[in-house]
Amino acid sequence: MIAQGVTGLLRPLCTVLNMSKIRLVYLCGMTEQHHIPAKWGAKRGFSSTHRLQDAPRESSSAGQVTVHFLNRDGERFTTSAKEGESLLEVVVNQNLPIDGFGACEGTLACSTCHLIFDKDTFQKLGAISDEELDMLDLAYGLTETSRLGCQVCIKKSMDGLTVRVPMDVSDIRRQQEVGKQSKQ
Ligand code: FES
Repeated sequence: MIAQGVTGLLRPLCTVLNMSKIRLVYLCGMTEQHHIPAKWGAKRGFSSTHRLQDAPRESSSAGQVTVHFLNRDGERFTTSAKEGESLLEVVVNQNLPIDGFGACEGTLACSTCHLIFDKDTFQKLGAISDEELDMLDLAYGLTETSRLGCQVCIKKSMDGLTVRVPMDVSDIRRQQEVGKQSKQ
C-alpha cells in the first residue's frame, strides 16, 4: 500500500523532472545505502528488497570462488567461478539453466542478466555505469540491490556469494521491436 503510494508519487515527479525512476531515487539519497555510483555521487535506494539468506561460506581453491545462484523456482545452483569472470560468463560457462539469461551476450542491450545481491555484497561492488543504469531502469522486479550480471566481475572476496534471479525477466530489445511494429 505504502509502496504503491510512493510509486504513484514518483511517476509524476519523474515526468516533471524528465528523468528515470532509478536516477530520481539516486538523487533522493536514501540513507541506508553506502554505494556511490561514479557519476551521480548520491545514494541509491528502492522500495523493499527481499534480503538474501546468507549462504554458508565455502573455501575455494586458488583463483576459484564459489557462487550460488538462486533461480526463480527456488532451485540453487552452486558453481565454481574464476576471479575476473563476469556473472554472465559464469552462467554461460557453467551452462546453468536460467531461462532467458544473458540474451544480448553482455552488450548492455537487454537487462535479462538482472541479478539481486545481498546488501553487504552490493555495497562492495564496483561503480555502476550510466549504460547499466539505463538498462536496470527497464528491468522487471528492480530492487535496491539489483545489478546486471554481465557488468559484475568475480572477486576473491565474493567467495560464498548468493545471487538471486528475479521472478520476471524482460528483454528490452523485444519490447522495442513490439513498439516499432505497433507504430507501423
Ligand atoms: Fe544483456 Fe547483460 S546480458 S544487459
